[in-house]
Amino acid sequence: MSEHGHHHSHHYDLSKRHYWQRVDETSDNNFYHDPRLVVHVDEHFIATLGLYFTEHLLPHATLLDLMSSYKTHLPADYKRGRVVGLGLNAVELQSNAQLDEFIIHDLNQHPTLPYPDATFDVVLNTVSIQYLIHPLEVFREVGRVLKPGGSHIVSFSNRMFPTKAVQIWRELSELERVVLVKQYFTEAGLFEPPEEFEEIDHQHHSGGFLALLYGSKDPVYIVSAKKLSRNG
Ligand SMILES: C[S@@+](CC[C@H](N)C(=O)[O-])C[C@H]1O[C@@H](n2cnc3c(N)ncnc32)[C@H](O)[C@@H]1O
Repeated sequence: MSEHGHHHSHHYDLSKRHYWQRVDETSDNNFYHDPRLVVHVDEHFIATLGLYFTEHLLPHATLLDLMSSYKTHLPADYKRGRVVGLGLNAVELQSNAQLDEFIIHDLNQHPTLPYPDATFDVVLNTVSIQYLIHPLEVFREVGRVLKPGGSHIVSFSNRMFPTKAVQIWRELSELERVVLVKQYFTEAGLFEPPEEFEEIDHQHHSGGFLALLYGSKDPVYIVSAKKLSRNG
């Protein structure tokens, strides 16, 4: 995890067991038991993600929102098809007005997704990827439930519940986390080469000095890839 060199050259050995340790190893159901009817990122993040969705989501797509909660952050004018949420807290998921249905499912206990092959056009994972202790299994499952050519869109910022994030995430810089998520896609073996999108306002990066004076903007990182088509 060197700070030197071009970050694209990194490759992490995901078989290292300590990478997947968390400060709080109790069941995720405990931590997420009480509903948090809050947004976990700022308006700038949500607006930027919304623009990305506007550009990348076809109307009426069949959509799975993994690690879903109270908001799916689809733009208000997006023409929704069937939208399915998967998460841990029923009160949060019931309050999410953009979901047609939801299930409670712990991806760290059961990385298997309870859907048939080629069910979804799009699978989202919004500001939660840092909590997965079996990311490759989950990415392979995402590949399985996506239709060929369908896409997985993973977004994150620089916030987290630190006791629930895996150790590798806590050790990496923000740009190294982009590399890590790209590696999840690549090692899963079911996706086209991932693409990255970043919008970082360095002056107003949350935590920075000017941000303290003028208010911060959460940085936006999005990594996405299409499922390989059968002949791809
Ligand atoms: C920071 S919140 C983000 C929620 C939502 N995606 C959003 O954009 O607001 C993290 C979410 O991950 C979910 N989560 C955490 N661990 C999980 C697990 N093991 N299986 C499934 N969902 C999990 C929690 O229920 C929580 O709602």
